[in-house]
Amino acid sequence: MGSEARSSAAAILGIGTATPPYVVEQDTFPDYYFRITNSEHKVELKEKFVSLCKNSMIRKRHMCLTEDMLKQDPCISAYRAPSLDKRQEIMETEVPKLGAQAAIVAIEDWGGSKSDITHLIFCNSGGASMPGADYALLNLLQLPLSTKRFMLYQQGCYGGGTVLRLAKDVAENNPGARILVVTSEVTSISFRGPCEEHFGNIVCQALFADGAAAVIVGTVPRVTEHVLFEIVSARQDIVPSSEGAIVGKLREVGLMIDLHPGVAKYVGSVVDKLVRESLEHVGINDWNDAFWVVHPGGRAILDEVEKALGLKKEKLRAPREVLKEYGNMWSSCVLFVMEAMRRRSEEEGKATAGEGLEWGLLFGFGPGLTVETILLRCP
Ligand SMILES: CC(C)(COP(=O)(O)OP(=O)(O)OC[C@H]1O[C@@H](n2cnc3c(N)ncnc32)[C@H](O)[C@@H]1OP(=O)(O)O)[C@@H](O)C(=O)NCCC(=O)NCCS
Repeated sequence: MGSEARSSAAAILGIGTATPPYVVEQDTFPDYYFRITNSEHKVELKEKFVSLCKNSMIRKRHMCLTEDMLKQDPCISAYRAPSLDKRQEIMETEVPKLGAQAAIVAIEDWGGSKSDITHLIFCNSGGASMPGADYALLNLLQLPLSTKRFMLYQQGCYGGGTVLRLAKDVAENNPGARILVVTSEVTSISFRGPCEEHFGNIVCQALFADGAAAVIVGTVPRVTEHVLFEIVSARQDIVPSSEGAIVGKLREVGLMIDLHPGVAKYVGSVVDKLVRESLEHVGINDWNDAFWVVHPGGRAILDEVEKALGLKKEKLRAPREVLKEYGNMWSSCVLFVMEAMRRRSEEEGKATAGEGLEWGLLFGFGPGLTVETILLRCP
């Protein structure tokens, strides 16, 4: 690949993240969760939940839903009560608000001006409104009214890869474009009490959290701009025979999510092939020579990826850090991982944002089971 071709590849020019102020500590969460959902009599289920939380390797998570909100609207903390109106009211306010906070940080990191933003890509997996959260964010940030918008609802955890794939296509086909990409996930749409017959639900309640992230994407960087990661190629695949592994259905009771216990194994079964097809043609044959932006969907997922690819412990440090400090924030996770990796690389004086390395891979996993694979390069 020549240097001219590289500079015309879409690149990430700034990153920002944001979380809501309400924090839940994972070691006290089981008591809180069973109390606030009036489920303290489900003693055996609570014991299993304590174990899930302990084994999750999460320390804390951020949420928009506070104890007061749950007391005020108990339909949200019931296992299955009509509650979509209440949930949507929260989403309509909180999703664009959190997204705007992340976008402000990303714009500052990029160093450009809001008036230079030509496109907006917004991803949220829970809500649905017309006009959408993209429109609300444009108003909150006072972006140009001519900003060309794409709203991606209902993607799930792979969405952080989808937005980068789309941003690459838009950037490379619109010379001079500067794209604001925002993922904003608020789990108020799927928070619910425990039920013995629905174990996948309590796994979700042990892992999921709120968080927003934003990046600025463009080609041919200007002198004032700094390339963090180039988006070299992008693909999307469905894992064979994985239908039903992760399913979310929006109902009057909110978003009902089913997780199959074999999700991590499904992921482990495909990653080596995807890595081979992405990294070998840029001359990488030892996967430890690349950096890894893997969706921390759960501790077991990171363990399976590590095992399937023969990665050294330190290679998944950034995804494990994000899981520990923030939990699984759906589509926002991979952008948080990029930010954590880039900050750590800067602190340690590494030559590139990717832990001093040139090539890396980003993996998003989510409903389907769908995998987004993005080949990244740090100049
Ligand atoms: C949740 C998690 C951290 C728990 O860790 P752990 O306690 O070490 O986990 P295990 O996988 O051994 O699960 C403990 C028990 O829960 C069960 N279990 C786990 N996930 C389950 C699910 N989704 N549905 C039903 N049962 C499940 C296991 O079968 C096991 O049951 P057993 O004790 O009867 O054998 C781990 O399972 C994980 O990371 N899972 C992946 C989560 C996921 O799918 N995320 C996808 C979102 S993108």
